[in-house]
Amino acid sequence: MQFIQTIQNLREVLEDSRQNDLSVGLVPTMGALHEGHLSLIRKSASQNDLTIVSIFVNPIQFGANEDLKTYPRRIEADISLAQSHGARIVFAPSVLEMYPNNKPMTLIRNAQIESLYCGAYREGHFQGVLTVVAKLFLICNPDRAYFGTKDYQQLFLIEKMVEDLNFNLKIIRVPTLREDSGLALSSRNEYLSEQDHLNAPAIFQGLEAAKKAYQKGESRVSFLIDIVRQSIELKKGQVQYIEIVDSSTLLPILDEIKGQTAVILVAAFWGKTRLIDNIELF
Ligand code: PAF
Repeated sequence: MQFIQTIQNLREVLEDSRQNDLSVGLVPTMGALHEGHLSLIRKSASQNDLTIVSIFVNPIQFGANEDLKTYPRRIEADISLAQSHGARIVFAPSVLEMYPNNKPMTLIRNAQIESLYCGAYREGHFQGVLTVVAKLFLICNPDRAYFGTKDYQQLFLIEKMVEDLNFNLKIIRVPTLREDSGLALSSRNEYLSEQDHLNAPAIFQGLEAAKKAYQKGESRVSFLIDIVRQSIELKKGQVQYIEIVDSSTLLPILDEIKGQTAVILVAAFWGKTRLIDNIELF
């Protein structure tokens, strides 16, 4: 396992791998690795000769009032976890290495979708995500890159970027891992108080109840959204948004689901902790 901190060093190592015809998988992360990340790493290790895990808490995707300073950082533990699940390289550049001139002048945007849903409450967030992911793709030049479906909007935007800008790689979607309670694994779960941790599975319970109602024939958007809202509010969560969107365009479905593949996207707070989740309706 190699621990690499500079772009030049990584490129030299990858040049050797390319000459030996090794396939490369990339798992981009912000560290604080949990089982969800480990499942991405294992998947990559099973499909590629060499797996790179990048660990970079990307400042340009955090808003002014967000948790950049307090975001969990534990590089030593992350390195050994990444290694034991099949990573051959951990790439952990400094902020200066990635952004020598502070915020770059060149940024990647998706003007249509970036300010909807999560983007409506996190100005500049997806621009920061797309820009760092594009940089990581250009630095690592992977054959495949692995992302979890919990961040559904992020995943959609990355897939569109790859398509629109002709990145020569395949995005692999990996299903959300959950606690037994149904709560989606997230590095931010550790901010939850004990009581909030017990209540937060209400997000997924609401999503599952809405899916069951849909499967029984309920197709009215407002009705399905109410099911999710009630489940969250009953357990003292505060809904930020619940939207039902067409999974192929990520645009909102307004009144009724009429045969499109739909996804319910939700963000809710318990205390100051913001959690997101989603469920596909079929
Ligand atoms: O999902 C994340 O952890 C981050 O948004 C990502 C994709 C690593 C980019 O910083």
